Amino acid sequence: MKVGLLGFGVVGRGFYDIVATRNDISVAKVVCLEDITLPDAEVTRDFQSVLADDSIDTVVEAMGGLHPAYEFVRAAIEAGKNVVTSNKALVCTFYDELIPLANEKGVKFRCTAAVGGGICWLSELERARRVQKILRVGGIMNGTCNYILDSMTRLGLGYDEALKQAQALGYAEANPTTDVEGIDTWHKVILSGNIAFGVSLDPSQVPVTGISRISAEDVENFKTHGKVCKLVSTGTQENGTYSAYVQPTLFDSNAPEATIPTNYNLITLIGEHSGRQSLYGQGAGRYPTAYNVVQDCVDLLCGKSFYAPYGEKVCVDNSGTMCYYIRGGHFPTEKIAEHWGNAIITTPISVASAHAWLKENPDAFIAALDAGC
Ligand code: HSE
Repeated sequence: MKVGLLGFGVVGRGFYDIVATRNDISVAKVVCLEDITLPDAEVTRDFQSVLADDSIDTVVEAMGGLHPAYEFVRAAIEAGKNVVTSNKALVCTFYDELIPLANEKGVKFRCTAAVGGGICWLSELERARRVQKILRVGGIMNGTCNYILDSMTRLGLGYDEALKQAQALGYAEANPTTDVEGIDTWHKVILSGNIAFGVSLDPSQVPVTGISRISAEDVENFKTHGKVCKLVSTGTQENGTYSAYVQPTLFDSNAPEATIPTNYNLITLIGEHSGRQSLYGQGAGRYPTAYNVVQDCVDLLCGKSFYAPYGEKVCVDNSGTMCYYIRGGHFPTEKIAEHWGNAIITTPISVASAHAWLKENPDAFIAALDAGC
């Protein structure tokens, strides 16, 4: 396999290092803005030279961001080149365009590193869905948020201090909004649901709220009640109805999710035959992420392409109910079941209505109670 590698940052460099040890994959060209020289690959700023090089059969996109990653990936598919990418925002945003286009052009497309970094999550979904209906996907999909919440819970740090540490360790992006507001997790659960259920979930119908408004006082409140807060994604299918959302969630302190340390991920599927299966590992970082990009290239060499047939867009129904912890905002008193200090626990309300309420009360912090009331 001859690769045109787009991007030479964290993941691109990791990919280059790993394939340097193999003889079945070689990097012919690297497209990047850095002034670097490499012993065995041409470095260029000109993506068109990758397209024009007929010896390059596969484009590995490790640039991140939507543009020009989208234009480059689309052009690569149209030119008949296989694509491997770690870019969840790209695949999630342009799912309805890129997956059918790859099918139409007969090119192979994989993106395992886009969800769970070094965890073999999407490739396991591909296997799981071959022999059973997948009923539920989701879990802890963002290392930065887990690091912040874990530091607040175990070490008693404040939010700002925990975030600074996550940035210093290179987990959080320089602009951490994508991580802490749950957008990264949102991309990941939509992509996971699309593959698990063989549909295209409408992103505009998938609500998301993150952890940026959590306080040390909330964490103390959770501890008093034997709970631990995690940012969790959920996607379900039942009788042709699909739900999907991202929200902070409170787990009993002995639940598997509650024990996940530092920047690790715990991603779970529930299948009709397998029951619950959870994958635990490094959801980010140079070599874990690059590992799955290399795995995708090896899978292409073995003849694999996308994980699931493309499915049409479906509506998302978040009318299922659960109880919520809410601090701040104005909540109707008749729906308050309990008081926890200066916060309240609601009676069961729908996920859709909880997120709609939050839009009207943007300074409030909400977290779902995993075990219900
Ligand atoms: N910023 C992401 C995380 C990296 O913290 O998990 C992988 O998507």
